Amino acid sequence: MWPVILCIAVTVVAVTHWLYRWQNPRCNGNLPPGSMGWPLLGETIQFFAPNPTWDTPPFVKERMKRYGPIFRTNLVGRPVVVSTDSDFNYMIFQQEGQLFQSWYPDSFTEVFGRQNVGSLHGYMYKYLKNMVLYLFGPESLKKMLNEVESVAERNLQKWAGQESVELKEATANMIFDLTAKKLINYDPEKSSENLRENFVAFIQGLISFPLDIPGTAYHKCLQGRKKAMAMLKKMLEERRANPRKEKSCFFDYVLEELDRGDSILTEAIALDLMFVLLFASYETTSLAITVAVKLLGDNPRILHELTDEHENILRNRENTESGLTWKEYKSMTFTFKLINETARLANIVPGVFRKALKDIKFKDYTIPAGWAVMVCPPAVHLNPVNYKDPLEFNPWRWEKMDQKGASKNFMAFGGGMRFCVGTDFTKVQMAVFLHCLVTKYRWKTVRGGEIIRTPGLQFPNGFHVQLTVKDKQQQDPSE
Ligand code: HEM
Ligand SMILES: *[C@@H]1O[C@H](CO)[C@@H](O)[C@H](O)[C@H]1NC(C)=O
Repeated sequence: MWPVILCIAVTVVAVTHWLYRWQNPRCNGNLPPGSMGWPLLGETIQFFAPNPTWDTPPFVKERMKRYGPIFRTNLVGRPVVVSTDSDFNYMIFQQEGQLFQSWYPDSFTEVFGRQNVGSLHGYMYKYLKNMVLYLFGPESLKKMLNEVESVAERNLQKWAGQESVELKEATANMIFDLTAKKLINYDPEKSSENLRENFVAFIQGLISFPLDIPGTAYHKCLQGRKKAMAMLKKMLEERRANPRKEKSCFFDYVLEELDRGDSILTEAIALDLMFVLLFASYETTSLAITVAVKLLGDNPRILHELTDEHENILRNRENTESGLTWKEYKSMTFTFKLINETARLANIVPGVFRKALKDIKFKDYTIPAGWAVMVCPPAVHLNPVNYKDPLEFNPWRWEKMDQKGASKNFMAFGGGMRFCVGTDFTKVQMAVFLHCLVTKYRWKTVRGGEIIRTPGLQFPNGFHVQLTVKDKQQQDPSE
C-alpha cells in the first residue's frame, strides 16, 4: 500500500512542480509579464487564430493591454518574449550577433533547410549575403529594369484579354518566372516539369500550425519543398554536365564557386539558398502588389495622384520609344511613399524571430539566455502613437516622416544587419508594375479582395479583377 501512495505523491509533486515551472520559468531577474498558456501547447492556438482585419492581431493587442508592450508567452512549446516596443525592437535589430541571433522556429528550418541564410551566422552568412546582393543589389537591378518592364507589360496585356484575373496568383507567377530565370535559367515554357507547382499554397503552410500529418497545410508545404529541392538538384547537375562559357544566371555563378575547390560554399547550402530566394521573391512581392492594387481601388484620390506621377514620366520623355530609365525610376517619389505605406499596412512579415544569446536586461525586465524573442512589426506600424489614424491608407504621411522615425518605427523589411536583401528588388518590381498598370489600364474588382491573417496575410477568396485598356479619349477632360 505505502509504495503506491508514495508513488502517487511523488508524481503529484513532480507534475505540480513542472506545471509551476511552466508558468514561472527560472530567471535571474524579472521576467516580462504574461501567461505561458497550456502545458506543451502554450498559447499556440490563440496565436494562429484567424483574424480578418488590417489591425494588430488580437492575440498581441489583448496582451499589450493586459501586460504592456513587452510580454512573455509560449508558442509551440517554446518560451517567447514578444516585443511591440519600438526602442526594444531597435535594440534587438542592432544587437544581432552580439546579444541576439537570428533564430526561426523548427517548423521554418524544416521548410527552408537547416542551412538557409536566415539560420547561418558569421562568415558563411556574410559570404551568402554578398552573393545575394550581387544578384538583387542596385547594380543588377539597373540592368534588370527594362526586363522587369517588358515582363510586366506582357503580362498585363495577356490579363487584359481575359474576363478576369486573380491578381495574387498572376503576379506571383509573373515574379516567380522572372526570378527563376535569373537564378536558374528556368523557362516554364521549355521545361517538362512545373517548378512553380511545388510552391503553391506555400505561405499558408509556412505560417501555420506545424503539424506534419497528411491533410495539413504544413504537410503540403514540406512535400512541396521536397519536390522543389529534388528539381533544383537535378537542374544543378544538368548544368554541371553542360557548363556554359558565359555566365547567364546564378547557377553558373554557384557552379564556378563550387568547382573552385577552396570555396566555403557547399552544394547543400547553395540549393537551400536558391529555394529561399525563389520563395522570398515571389510570395512577398506578389502580396505587396495585390495589397497596393486593392488599396488603390478603394482610394480613388490616391490612384489619381499615382497616375499623374506616371503619366508625367511618359509626357516628359524625349524618346517616346524608349523604356523606363533608372533616372525615371528614381523620380517616382509618390510611388515610393505609396510602397512604404503599403508595406506598413500589409505587414507581410508578422513576426521576426531572434534568440537571446545571454541574459538580457531591458528596462525592468530580464530575458533569460536561450529564450526566443519575437519582434512584432504590426504592433509598431499600427500604433497611433507612431502613425496617426494608423488604419488609414495615406501615402502622404511619409512626407513628414523624419529619418529617425522611419528607422525606429518602420520595420516591414526588418532592420540592422539582417535587413531584407530583397527590399530594392521588391521596390523595383512594385514601382515598375504600378507604372505599367496605371498608365495603360483601368480595373474593377470582380470578386474577392478580403484579407485574413493566420497570422500570415492571405486573400482567402483571391482578388479577381477585370483589366481594360484605357481609352485615351475618355480620360479626364481637364488634362
Ligand atoms: C514586400 C516584400 C518583402 C518583405 C516585406 C520582406 C521582409 C523581410 C524581413 C522583415 C526580413 C528580416 C528577417 C529577419 O530579420 O530575420 C527579411 C529578410 C530577408 N529577405 Fe525579405 N522581404 C521582402 C522581399 C524579399 C525579396 C524580394 C527577397 C529576395 C529577392 C527577399 C529575401 C530576403 C532574405 C534572403 C532575407 C534574409 C536576410 C538575412 O537573414 O540577412 N525578401 N525580409
Ligand atoms: C521608406 O522607408 C525607408 C525605411 O525603410 C526610408 O528610408 C525611406 O525614406 C522611406 N521612403 C519615403 C519615400 O518616405
